[in-house]
Amino acid sequence: MNTRVEQALNDQIEKEASSSQFYLAMASWAENNGMNGTAKFMYQHSDEERFHMLKLVKFVNERGGKAIIPAIAIPPKEFNDLTNVFELLLNHEIMVTESINNLVDICLQEKDYTTHNFIQWYVSEQLEEEALARSVLDKIKLIGGDKGGMYMFDRDLENSAIAAAPVNGGTGA
Ligand code: FEO
Repeated sequence: MNTRVEQALNDQIEKEASSSQFYLAMASWAENNGMNGTAKFMYQHSDEERFHMLKLVKFVNERGGKAIIPAIAIPPKEFNDLTNVFELLLNHEIMVTESINNLVDICLQEKDYTTHNFIQWYVSEQLEEEALARSVLDKIKLIGGDKGGMYMFDRDLENSAIAAAPVNGGTGA
């Protein structure tokens, strides 16, 4: 496997693993603060990021490279409020999208069309994840800090198809 592509894929493995831990921290915080819908959403999202990481690990190894399982920075323990949580989620996804785009660029520069093809799944996934994060954040901003509204938002998130979607990587996971 091309060493530059392998390094970039390993960097991406670290980002997906960090995303999983970050969203797990958000899930735990939400659960501890009585926001069960948000907790469910974030636990599921954390699982999806672990799936993204595993998919990369397996691809690198199957292509004759060596996947490196990374150390992960400790995520925050506290968040200000739901707006803060979903703003961080969106910003994090934007950072991941930039990283995926960079990976696409490296594949083209190195003429690694197999990895380029594989990475297209992540390109589509990032589009969906950013759109989802933006739509949730828009809803929170509409509510504008109203406590009753936030309660309804959390309950809706718990009951929504988004929160109940399976982790399979093929349908927006
Ligand atoms: Fe795997 Fe949400 O990026």
